Amino acid sequence: MAKFEKEINSAAELILASKYLVAFTGAGISVESGIPPFRGAEGLWSKYNPEVLDLHYFHRNPKDSWRVIKEIFYDFFGNAQPNSGHLSLSKLEEIGKLKCVITQNIDNLHQLAGNTVIHEFHGNSQKMICTNCSKHFTVTEVDLSVLPPLCDECHGLLKPDFIFFGESIPMDAYHASVRAAENADVFFIIGSTGEVMPASQIPVMAKQHGAKIIEINPEPSKYTHGLTDIYLQGKAGDILTQIVNNIILNHQT
Ligand code: APR
Repeated sequence: MAKFEKEINSAAELILASKYLVAFTGAGISVESGIPPFRGAEGLWSKYNPEVLDLHYFHRNPKDSWRVIKEIFYDFFGNAQPNSGHLSLSKLEEIGKLKCVITQNIDNLHQLAGNTVIHEFHGNSQKMICTNCSKHFTVTEVDLSVLPPLCDECHGLLKPDFIFFGESIPMDAYHASVRAAENADVFFIIGSTGEVMPASQIPVMAKQHGAKIIEINPEPSKYTHGLTDIYLQGKAGDILTQIVNNIILNHQT
């Protein structure tokens, strides 16, 4: 029997029987697209100082913050493409099973993969906002060759439209995520350490409202030994592909 065959079957059966499947994703789902996670030995915070994403630091040192932000989010990861994990979640939406994705990621890869109902808990790096007049821009409208970028209307400082340390969660995404967690009967946790509040509480709410939890992560997380019902220890792309293939090959959908 292949590794995890029993667990993959159980996960596929749960999904097929589900009425409201929700996926909660963290940095781990984008690792196979070449985007490193935040934490751990290879994580971004082992190479960069997280203070560049602190709101107060950003306003005091916009040029310095922007130099690092551009290097990380636009030069290194700007061309990243969805991997088989993102594409599998898109397939699950297409066959009518996945109701929404709640993501902590700001990389826009769920959108590129084709999912249409996405609650962006931490915002999106492909959008920018003027810190003075709140005008919105897409990344392609902003010239990053001169830093910091300024608003073409009021010359205010532009900021990526993802949340920095010290900022609150966008209320619409927060409330939509809570509603989805409360409605879920099956809930994926994919590639998240579960260390960052308040996002980390969303899976807890799903469990409290009766959802079965399927977790995919090569390393155990804060959820694995308390919350998770089916733990699939592996890479998101590999495991999600196996689950979707199992559903498509072995079952009528
Ligand atoms: N497939 C699935 N999971 C993976 C993979 C993979 N191929 N590779 C690594 N992982 C797992 C790691 O084992 C780890 O548990 O992904 C997780 C990444 O953890 P974090 O870097 O802490 O990411 P996340 O939980 O999304 O962080 C939350 O912290 O500072 C921030 O705002 C940022 O949204 C981010 C938040």
